[in-house]
Amino acid sequence: MIKMQPKLFIHFICACLLLSITTITRAETVLITGSNSGIGLEFARQYAAKGWQVIATHRRDTTPEPLQKLADQYKNVRVAQMDVTNRDQINKLATQLQGTPVDVLLNNAGLVMVGELDFRNNSQSFGTLNYDHFDAILATNVKGPMLVTEAFIGHVRASKQKKIIAISSSSAVVSVPPANGGMYWYGMSKAALNKLMVTLAADLKNEGVTVVMLHPGFVKVEKMAGFDFPGMVETPVAVGNMIKTIDGLTINDTGKFMQNDGKPQAW
Ligand SMILES: NC(=O)c1ccc[n+]([C@@H]2O[C@H](COP(=O)([O-])OP(=O)(O)OC[C@H]3O[C@@H](n4cnc5c(N)ncnc54)[C@H](OP(=O)(O)O)[C@@H]3O)[C@@H](O)[C@H]2O)c1
Repeated sequence: MIKMQPKLFIHFICACLLLSITTITRAETVLITGSNSGIGLEFARQYAAKGWQVIATHRRDTTPEPLQKLADQYKNVRVAQMDVTNRDQINKLATQLQGTPVDVLLNNAGLVMVGELDFRNNSQSFGTLNYDHFDAILATNVKGPMLVTEAFIGHVRASKQKKIIAISSSSAVVSVPPANGGMYWYGMSKAALNKLMVTLAADLKNEGVTVVMLHPGFVKVEKMAGFDFPGMVETPVAVGNMIKTIDGLTINDTGKFMQNDGKPQAW
C-alpha cells in the first residue's frame, strides 16, 4: 500500500504533463466558409497540409467532391454544411462545435453575380439593375459574414490566435473612381463588408481579437478559367501569400485592409 503511493504520484504527474503537452501543442483551427471551390478550397488544402484542424464549410445539400477528397486525404479536415445566409445552419454548426476554439475565422464565401459568371451580364448595370440579385449578393457578402461572426465569436475568443479574416475585394474601393461602371451590387457589397469589419475591429480590439480584410488579387479560380485579366495570379500563390500574411498578423493590424502579401490595400 505504502509502495503504491509514489507510483500513483508518478502516474498523476505523467498525466498532468501529457495534458499540458497536448494543450501546448494543440493544433490551431481554421473555419472556412465557401470552401468547396476556388480560394476557399485552396485555403482548406493549404491549412490541412500545414497540420491545422480545418473546418471546411459549404452550402451544398451533399458533400462536394473536392471536400470529400480532401477529408479522405487528411484526417484533420472536417467538412460541414453551412449556408452563410441560413441562420439555422449557422447556429447548428456553432452549437456542434461548442468547446472547439477557432483561431482563424475565415469569411471567404462570396457571390460575384447570380448565375453563370459573365461580365457582360447586365443585372448589375445602371438602367437594367436586377434588385433580386441585389438581395442575394448583399445577403451572402454582408449579412452572411455578420451572422457567422456573431455565431462563432465565442469560439474565436476561446482560441489562441483570435483572428477574424474577411476576403474582401478591391471592388470595394471608393477613394479611386472605378475605371468602368457596372458591377454595382458586388462593389457595394464589398464596401459594406469592409465597413462591417472595421466596426467589428473597433468593438473587439480590447479583447485581443484581430480583424483584417484581404484583397486576394485577381485570382485564377476555376470559375475565372475563361478570363485573362492583366495581373491575374494563380490560386495557390494568392492563398499561400494570404496564409503567410494571416500567420504574421498581430492585434496592431486590426482594422486594416491588405493585399494578399500584406501590403496596404487602398480603401
Ligand atoms: N477570384 C478573384 O479574383 C477574387 C477577387 C476578389 C475577391 N474575391 C473573393 O474571394 C472569395 C472567394 O471567391 P472565389 O474567387 O474563390 O470564387 P468561387 O470559386 O465562386 O468561391 C465562392 C465560394 O462561396 C460559396 N458560396 C456562395 N454563396 C454561399 C453561401 N450563401 N453560403 C456558403 N457558401 C457560399 C460558393 O459555393 P457554391 O459553389 O455552392 O456556389 C463557393 O464555394 C469571394 O468572397 C470573392 O468575392 C475573389
